Amino acid sequence: MILTPDDKVILSEGTILSESMIEGLHFWEINTVFIKEPLSDESEMDFSIPETAVQMKFFTEYEDTVNILKDSFAKIRFFKEVPLTATQNLARNCIEPLINTTGVINHINMVRRQDDYTFHHSVNVAIICGVLGKWLGYSGIELKDLILAGLLHDVGKTQIPLEILNKPGKLSPEEMEIMRLHTTRGYRLLRNKPEIPDGVIHGILQHHERFDGSGYPLGVSGDQIHPYAKIIAIADMYDAMTSDRVYHRKNSPFAVVEMIVEEMFNKLDPQIGTVFLNNVRDYLLGNIVELSDGRQAEVIYLGQFMAARPVVVTEDKEYIDLERNKTLSIVQVVKA
Ligand SMILES: [Fe+2]
Repeated sequence: MILTPDDKVILSEGTILSESMIEGLHFWEINTVFIKEPLSDESEMDFSIPETAVQMKFFTEYEDTVNILKDSFAKIRFFKEVPLTATQNLARNCIEPLINTTGVINHINMVRRQDDYTFHHSVNVAIICGVLGKWLGYSGIELKDLILAGLLHDVGKTQIPLEILNKPGKLSPEEMEIMRLHTTRGYRLLRNKPEIPDGVIHGILQHHERFDGSGYPLGVSGDQIHPYAKIIAIADMYDAMTSDRVYHRKNSPFAVVEMIVEEMFNKLDPQIGTVFLNNVRDYLLGNIVELSDGRQAEVIYLGQFMAARPVVVTEDKEYIDLERNKTLSIVQVVKA
């Protein structure tokens, strides 16, 4: 890991150095670094690298998982019964391996999803819960339960009419009220199952509660909210905002990180939020992004909290500090 004199991360451990990054190190007057592998001949920055084998394997297994969940949710809608063992197996055998894939957060950002929002979202939230849980030190059965809670957090949506759930436009206030019932409907689906851990049920019931008491269904706050629900809240927000549907345009993870920073000290648990942001920042380094002027650039430095406006280097080797150059912004991630 390479830090600035004021302890900001320039490059995290494991980063593959490109020519532009090396130039960036000179920019910071860093002339010596320890490297694990010699630089290959292909160290030149490449803006059109195809998906890696790891990423392609991830996409395939991810799609399979989404399809199994889709099937399972259809059955829950019809029978009003959660197939617990099957869902637990899905969490353990399908989601857990995805969580352990190198670069998992970047792969999620690159998944192209047009339909089946709820199922993609549920799988993504389960993955992000698992990754964040690991960053927070969860392991064993606790981590498995957290992943299960993430996977089932919106299971109550199976009890919401499809015309509201799949409505393309904005929901009316009445429809929004019905949509909000998914928290208590999910709770009702599972509350009589003694084999379901308490944390999973709380995660489902409370994932829209907010740290300052502004959430729903009960408006509880602070320590009254189960840690699983606080973790799901962050995973839910991150995934919803980086996807196309809910916010009607896809926000880049850089903008989303910035929004989470804004929410962190009132609506989210600041401790969990800080762990999330500190770790997610490392994933964003090295991303190839499209700038608002159409050029592509590589992210080479992220400030402590100003992740939305990092330092980037363009294809023609121009270094731009987006924090200083406010006329430009990141439109989307081209390659993560
Ligand atoms: Fe939800």
